[in-house]
Amino acid sequence: MRQGRPAGPIGECLDEAAAMLLFARRWLKDPMKVGAVAPSSPVLARAMIKALDLEPGQTCLEIGPGTGAFTEHLVEACDGDVRVVLVEQDPVFVGHLRQRFRNAEVIAGDARDLPQLLALNGISRVPRILSGLPLRSMPPPLRMRLARAMGDVLEIGGRMVQFTYLAGPPLLPRLAAAARVEGRRVDFVARNAPPAFIWVYGKVAGPVISPGFLRRSDA
Ligand SMILES: C[S@@+](CC[C@H](N)C(=O)[O-])C[C@H]1O[C@@H](n2cnc3c(N)ncnc32)[C@H](O)[C@@H]1O
Repeated sequence: MRQGRPAGPIGECLDEAAAMLLFARRWLKDPMKVGAVAPSSPVLARAMIKALDLEPGQTCLEIGPGTGAFTEHLVEACDGDVRVVLVEQDPVFVGHLRQRFRNAEVIAGDARDLPQLLALNGISRVPRILSGLPLRSMPPPLRMRLARAMGDVLEIGGRMVQFTYLAGPPLLPRLAAAARVEGRRVDFVARNAPPAFIWVYGKVAGPVISPGFLRRSDA
């Protein structure tokens, strides 16, 4: 729950309106990085958290939390039993998240540098990653760097959940191979603008054999 605002439904509506406005303003400033004009819906947020399959005592890294549409449900679902670490590159979102989620650790930085950012906070690998990154709308070299960084910090046997508005996988085969993860589509959420598919990726010990590995267009 956000601190310092009226309690109850009025407070919740004010929070939601403020988050929508902030999100739209940041999208206008940098549409490619923000990747959506409005925050994700609560229905998508709940489905993403369910797909994470969190266990008590785990650390969950959320990448690209924006205004905290997923974070709110993540914090609620784990009820203090999970260490919640957020990495966000937009300084305005970072300020908003720090104010809204006093019990989460908010790291300001670019997810391309995940290993270094986490190491500065005493973390080497995590068992769960919740990603809101708009991977499919990013240029191929950037996606590749992000995929490698996510793979580097995910434990073997760990799980990463990512959504996409497109029918194909959010991590195309070459990216999944670079991250050493294998994925499957687990859900479709119509009640989101736009509707979204949810993918779960698991980190494997050996190399990922992918049919599209050598295709340049897959990056
Ligand atoms: C599509 S929004 C998702 C926000 C939120 N998870 C939601 O679903 O409403 C993408 C978010 O990723 C952040 N982002 C984009 N590139 C990033 C990067 N390289 N490192 C960290 N955050 C990034 C954006 O600033 C934005 O907050």
